[in-house]
Parts: sequence; C-alpha cells; structure tokens
Amino acid sequence: MSSYLQLQLRLPLLRRRPIQCASDRQALFNRIAPVYDTLNDFLSLGQHRIWKRMAVSWSCAKPGDCVLDICCGSGDLAFLLSQKVGSTGKVTGLDFSWEQLSIASSRQRSLSKPCYENIGWVEGDALNLPFPDCSFDAITMGYGLRNVVDKRKALEEIFRVLKEGSKASILDFNKTTQPTVAAIQEWMINNIVVPVASSYGLADDYRYLSKSIREFSTGKELEDLALEVGFSTSVHYELSGGLMGNLVASR
Ligand SMILES: C[S@@+](CC[C@H](N)C(=O)[O-])C[C@H]1O[C@@H](n2cnc3c(N)ncnc32)[C@H](O)[C@@H]1O
Repeated sequence: MSSYLQLQLRLPLLRRRPIQCASDRQALFNRIAPVYDTLNDFLSLGQHRIWKRMAVSWSCAKPGDCVLDICCGSGDLAFLLSQKVGSTGKVTGLDFSWEQLSIASSRQRSLSKPCYENIGWVEGDALNLPFPDCSFDAITMGYGLRNVVDKRKALEEIFRVLKEGSKASILDFNKTTQPTVAAIQEWMINNIVVPVASSYGLADDYRYLSKSIREFSTGKELEDLALEVGFSTSVHYELSGGLMGNLVASR
C-alpha cells in the first residue's frame, strides 16, 4: 500500500485531543477566528444579532458610559455597546485570543463609523481582569462564561470591576432543564453545526460545543452563583424557546 493511502486511512484517527485547559481553549478560539463570524451568521440564521442586541439592552449601557465587553471575540457586542455609549463614552473589548482581537480591530477600521473610535481592544484574561475595582458602568459577556475554566472566578472579576448599582449582562447557550429542548439543541449541534464546521476542517472544534453546554450551569445555578459572589440581584432569561439564555446581575 502506498504511504499516501496509508496516511489517508489513518486520518480519521488523527483527532484533536479533547479541549481541557485554558490554553487548549485559547488555541481553539485562535483556530476558528477566521470563520467564526461567517459560521455564527449561518448557523443561527442571523439570530445571534438579535440575542446580542438584547444582551446589550439588558446591560443598561447609556450615553457617556465607560463599559466593558469580556470575551469580545471579533467584537459584535463591543460595536453595539459603542453605539449605545456614543462618542462621549468608552468601550473596552477584552479577549485572550490575539487572532480574534485582530479581526475585531480590522472590522473597526473597515466599518469606519465615527462612534467606533470609542472602542479599545485589550488582550487579557477574563479570570484576572487588568482593571481597577469599580471601573465600569456596564459589562457584557457573550458566549464567554461557558468557555472559561472557572465560572465563579469570572463572575468575581466582573463584580470587582463593575461600579456599584451597575449591571452585567451575560449571554450564552442555555443549559436547559427541559429534555425536549436539550434534545433539539444536541440534534442541531450534531446534525447542522458539526457537519457545517467540518466543511471548514473544524468539526472537532465545534464538537466541543455540546460538551461545553452539558458541563455549563443551568439558569437557576447561574442566578445562585451570581448572588453568592455578591451581586444584589440576578435574573436569568431564556431566549428562543430556551436554546439561549441571558443572565442579568446587578451589583
Ligand atoms: C464563543 S467566542 C464569543 C465571542 C463574542 N463575544 C461573540 O459573542 O461573538 C468566546 C470568546 O471567549 C474568549 N475567551 C475564552 N476564555 C477566555 C478567557 N479566560 N479570557 C479572555 N477571553 C476568553 C475566546 O477567545 C473567544 O473569543
């Protein structure tokens, strides 16, 4: 048998090892960065834009505010926040993936809306935010909490850098307690998301999605965790029939 054919036969065994630690996750987000936005639009049929608008609206960011978007990726939530806070406000987008940040920054240049000049990008860790206590009037986080290795620490950091009376709005997949919704979610990932991602050579990376939702917390658990960390109120809203969820926590 030719060595080429032997390699082809062996290829299915060459799977990436499972995503475990923070550096595995960082590598994953660097890898998927070039196709992340295209896949988001395609796989959610554009609905992620609506969910993100809702998340920003729940943050209660207003003109002139100084706000933070944690795990900003290619910047969708930061761009929406920028329009809310306007030219007198300031938006910081933070992520630990340099590739995602460079896409965010080139989108900022190419979109060239004057208000987007109020956005700055910071390479940093959600579990050790490089900001002083009580710095921000509002904080958003989209599809980040499920991906950090320590959810409690992430919420503690959000609490620490948020000003008193301000809100954090945290959007993510919902770990539903409804078996039917869970089955639909799992079916969509296995039969739509993974096959589409595999056409970009990213099947293993998107297979991680199911596992990360299974290991995530339910809305009630997130509400309780936010209260334990010190937030005065926390409410989890289900979106799109329970497929997505948004935690709103006030300091
Ligand atoms: C699924 S993407 C979401 C991106 C964007 N918020 C959105 O909604 O389109 C998750 C992002 O979280 C970032 N991330 C994960 N863990 C992180 C951490 N500990 N510190 C900073 N960023 C992190 C990843 O690099 C990735 O860009």
